[in-house]
Amino acid sequence: MRKKIIAGNWKMNMDLPAGITLAESLLEKLTDVRKCDVIFCPPFPLLNPIYEIIRNSGFGLGAQNLFWEENGAFTGEISAKILLSVGCQYVIIGHSERRKYFSETNKTVNYRIKKALQSGLIPIVCIGETLDERQTDQTEFVIHTQMQQGLHGLSRREIANIIIAYEPVWAIGTGKNATPDQVIDVHQYIRKLLRQWYDDHLSNSIRIQYGGSVNEENAEELLSQPDIDGALIGGASLNENKFEKIVLIGELNS
Ligand code: PGA
Repeated sequence: MRKKIIAGNWKMNMDLPAGITLAESLLEKLTDVRKCDVIFCPPFPLLNPIYEIIRNSGFGLGAQNLFWEENGAFTGEISAKILLSVGCQYVIIGHSERRKYFSETNKTVNYRIKKALQSGLIPIVCIGETLDERQTDQTEFVIHTQMQQGLHGLSRREIANIIIAYEPVWAIGTGKNATPDQVIDVHQYIRKLLRQWYDDHLSNSIRIQYGGSVNEENAEELLSQPDIDGALIGGASLNENKFEKIVLIGELNS
């Protein structure tokens, strides 16, 4: 069985004191969590301080992006090597906000995934359709394109290390989550593609999270589905009580 994975994407929220308080109290509340993976993805400057808090806890640390070059004159960018040195094990790649506001394309997503994998970081690869694309029946086409171009040139062995986050753009930050049936349809389509391009074993072993307005109220109906391997959580990950409840639901369904 695939282990559930609950990741909190803090986005551009929290300052250092608030981030420390949140991580410390979650650590205290979630000491008994064993069966499900829990990851914090704070903004870059908070990564190392949060790592210092969670380093012996079993919780993971993820960045929200990386640049694909090794090092050099790239003002404002962060390399995989820097992320590893501050304690990261994961990195979110291709979030729809990066695609929308920062001109991220499937091609740059592909460069970033390759760099993450070569460096030993686990990429959480975000894919998903807009409302317009869903309403015009292009969901599968969009998912197919994002997967084909984003994962281009990756070996079977490399792909086995990624986590996919299906995040329909229309569900992110809107309070309107996708229904379990909608999520399962897309997750099954993703697995079908992986089966076609690689094999059954790979398709069955990759973890696919859902993201988009997951909260403490809808987490049960989503995380109780065997084909939803966890959640990528934005807004609700900033609230210790909500995030705690979602993680406990993930644990119970693991
Ligand atoms: P949300 O964000 O939970 O606030 O909808 C999810 C995400 O962007 O990963």
